[in-house]
Amino acid sequence: MLDKIKDIRAEAENFTTKSIKELEDFRVKMLGKKGLITQLFSDFRDVPNEQKREIGKLINELKSFVLEKLNQIKNESDSDSSVDSNLDLSLSGYPMNFGSQHPISLVKYQLFDIFSSMGFSIAEGPEIEDDWHVFSSLNFPEEHPARDMQDTFFFESKPDVLLRTHTSSVQVRVMETQKPPIRVICPGRVFRNEAISARAHCIFHQVEGLYIDENVSFADLRQTLFFFAQEMFGKNVKIRLRPSFFPFTEPSAEMDISCNLCGGKGCGVCKYTGWLEILGCGMVDPNVLEFNNIDSKKYTGYAFGMGIERMAMLKFQVKDLRLYFQNDIRFLNQFKSVL
Ligand code: PHE
Repeated sequence: MLDKIKDIRAEAENFTTKSIKELEDFRVKMLGKKGLITQLFSDFRDVPNEQKREIGKLINELKSFVLEKLNQIKNESDSDSSVDSNLDLSLSGYPMNFGSQHPISLVKYQLFDIFSSMGFSIAEGPEIEDDWHVFSSLNFPEEHPARDMQDTFFFESKPDVLLRTHTSSVQVRVMETQKPPIRVICPGRVFRNEAISARAHCIFHQVEGLYIDENVSFADLRQTLFFFAQEMFGKNVKIRLRPSFFPFTEPSAEMDISCNLCGGKGCGVCKYTGWLEILGCGMVDPNVLEFNNIDSKKYTGYAFGMGIERMAMLKFQVKDLRLYFQNDIRFLNQFKSVL
């Protein structure tokens, strides 16, 4: 009996493998129903009483040794990526697990649909910009405090190079290359030097719009935005325009929609006002048209700009902006059924 234990112990000590299958065979050989160690335990009954203490101890030690060894090899192979025998090739490929679109993409594509149905085309431009396209051509005078409205990331080594703070810069690039009538929306990432919190982020997404033609009026702007709000938030939505200021539009306004949670009665989300602010807009300042060689006597235009994160927050009642960037699968999976 003692020899038998010794032999099995030696075999266990010498055993190595990288294969999960061999490891499992080894486990069965040792500890399976008819395994060597299992056998030892049943033979133990016949061991004379005076040897029981010693032999019992040895068998127990052998069993612990084998269990530990099994665990150790398994842990090693779990962390060793060269061992691919972990792959369970018998797993069915069905049902296929489809991913979901990110809520920012969902809202962005919905915005594309709504505005392209009104004849807008899509224009994109660079994220790294110069002062002219982000500020000066948009009627921000140099040293004007209006530049502080948007905290800008500048490149230390190149004072004229910056990350765009809005996609109005793309509208400028469109005006440089196209003649009116112009009807574009400009989606893209924008960057502002703000502390990250539930309500603010240093990176977010915008869609801005620009329409320039003869006889474009504020009424056109209002009607376009009303149609957009209805398509996005439902036919019962109301809008209101409040006077505001942007250097590149005159007059300027901010648009609110009636709160889509309480229907305008007042609740925590709309801070009991019944209204939610969703975008900035206005009639393109004649200076901006002239800066871009468009005859401001002949043409007028409107522009608007909105944050996609904010739109998605209101639509899906997302309470914390940071969720959009964390890629937590539990958050993203909730948008599977939204199309
Ligand atoms: N560019 C503005 C912003 O980023 C939004 C806006 C666009 C306002 C067009 C008016 C007209 O805040």
